[in-house]
Amino acid sequence: TDIKTFANEPFVDFSQPENREAMEQAIARVRAELGQTLPLHIGDQKIVTEDKIVSINPANKDEVIGYMSKANQQLAEQAMHTALETFETWKKVPARIRADYLFKAATLMRERKHEFSAMMILEAGKNYAEADADTAEAIDFMEFYAREMLRLDQINETQPLTPIPGEDNRLTYIPLGVGIVIPPWNFPLAICVGMTTAAVVSGNTVLLKPASTTPVIAHKFVALMEEIGLPSGVINFIPGSGAEVGDYLTTHPKTRFISFTGSKEVGLRISRLAADTAEGQIWMKRLVAEMGGKDGIVVDETADLDAAAQAIVASAFGFQGQKCSAGSRAVIVESVYPQIVEKVTELTGRLSIGLPEQNYPSGPVIDESSYNKILDYIEIGKTEGRLVAGGNKADGNGYYIQPTVFADVDRKARIMQEEIFGPVLALCSAKDYQEAIEIYNDTEFGLTGAFFSSNEERISEALETMHCGNLYVNRKCTGALVGAQPFGGFNMSGTDSKAGGHDYLLLFTQAKLTSRKL
Ligand code: NAD
Ligand code: ALA
Repeated sequence: TDIKTFANEPFVDFSQPENREAMEQAIARVRAELGQTLPLHIGDQKIVTEDKIVSINPANKDEVIGYMSKANQQLAEQAMHTALETFETWKKVPARIRADYLFKAATLMRERKHEFSAMMILEAGKNYAEADADTAEAIDFMEFYAREMLRLDQINETQPLTPIPGEDNRLTYIPLGVGIVIPPWNFPLAICVGMTTAAVVSGNTVLLKPASTTPVIAHKFVALMEEIGLPSGVINFIPGSGAEVGDYLTTHPKTRFISFTGSKEVGLRISRLAADTAEGQIWMKRLVAEMGGKDGIVVDETADLDAAAQAIVASAFGFQGQKCSAGSRAVIVESVYPQIVEKVTELTGRLSIGLPEQNYPSGPVIDESSYNKILDYIEIGKTEGRLVAGGNKADGNGYYIQPTVFADVDRKARIMQEEIFGPVLALCSAKDYQEAIEIYNDTEFGLTGAFFSSNEERISEALETMHCGNLYVNRKCTGALVGAQPFGGFNMSGTDSKAGGHDYLLLFTQAKLTSRKL
């Protein structure tokens, strides 16, 4: 494979009737598979446990997606043993062969992409375009990291070092060992696949603990890796409670690294626990943690106001605002503030709510605890701002909440500062673009942001001063593409690893220098 040929998987156009029909058929096929009991995968063993995680459709609480077996500490220990043993052989498998597994898996996932998307429509409540983008990103991660491993392999062969006569000096990046991979539910395929395959293609073996609300789509990925012939024991699949299995593995002496994506609270807990050394531990654990955001869009008075309003609404309400990149606040220069409030209110009102399988723009939020938390924030919002859209739960046998907008919110308000992770947008006005940027920066997070303006000097200034990992100009702040917009944030948004970037695989390796006297 030519490593220069990476290109993003194209998105499917669901305005075409044949594409819509293809997705409807995929949903019907996937629906026929629902309700199965699914096993853990530890080495070549498939283990069905008594205790199960019941995954349900958040859009229709009566529909069971699957009964997922659930690991306890003893099974986690068994998985650790298997991963340690498998590491001894997997680390010796040539990079080219490791990369080939990812290429094969990407090819097969592409052939079945609607099926993967359909499963996310039913298990996570994504509409067609959101689910398709998630599957496309999963394919991209595998295609990209496979090429990245080939590139790293070449670097291992050819890395130039300062020449010293009479010596052969080489630097090679070798794998770390056994890693714990802990993805979130909001990109239940893309992030799960990206984190897992990056670690594995770099030569590590992993214990994958998927998010408890979306274990079935994660299992579908693990089954795909088995189908393409990835040696057993490289990916060990152990769904389970974060508190029980998560803490156990985070503190385990044989855990070499932890790759985590999720909330600030859990990320900080893992960071604290992983910093301690357990009896018998001979390394400092490496932690890659990608956490939450309070992302926002800044609009000045020279901006294209229609484009800005559309971007604000798309960023705030895509997948019900449940993206780490979601634009949950917007700061607008006061001379155009009333127009933006009006346009945003109008566009938000057009977002109809209904079943994801029928491709409504707005669907349910993920589960009952999210639902309650978001409704609590809406009540807080009612005391902190002027409600201009939504503000209530919505009808349906699921966790439906109206897309909600609060105007005139103070920069220090809780709904301007705290990650809500739901369809709630706060609008705030500023006297000029500089104050607007200052308000944008007044956060503990730093994941994504966008600046809307037509003034070149201000754009240059914003590019320098808006402090976040992914900063966009005159476009929405969601939807980063693998390879094109490596993704990850500053401050409490995480360790600024860049998923889908050229330095990502290095995080799962260590550099060894060898110097040989000639
Ligand atoms: P979460 O922190 O609740 O859970 C994430 C994962 O951690 C899950 O698999 C969960 O089971 C596990 N977990 C829970 N407790 C644990 C423990 N004590 N030890 C080990 N693992 C434990 O987050 P979530 O609700 O799944 O996802 C939403 C969050 O993820 C949001 O804050 C969002 O911003 C963030 N996120 C960040 C990025 C990014 O790239 N920065 C991407 C997607 C989501
Ligand atoms: N990569 C996802 C986005 O940018 C998180 O929206």
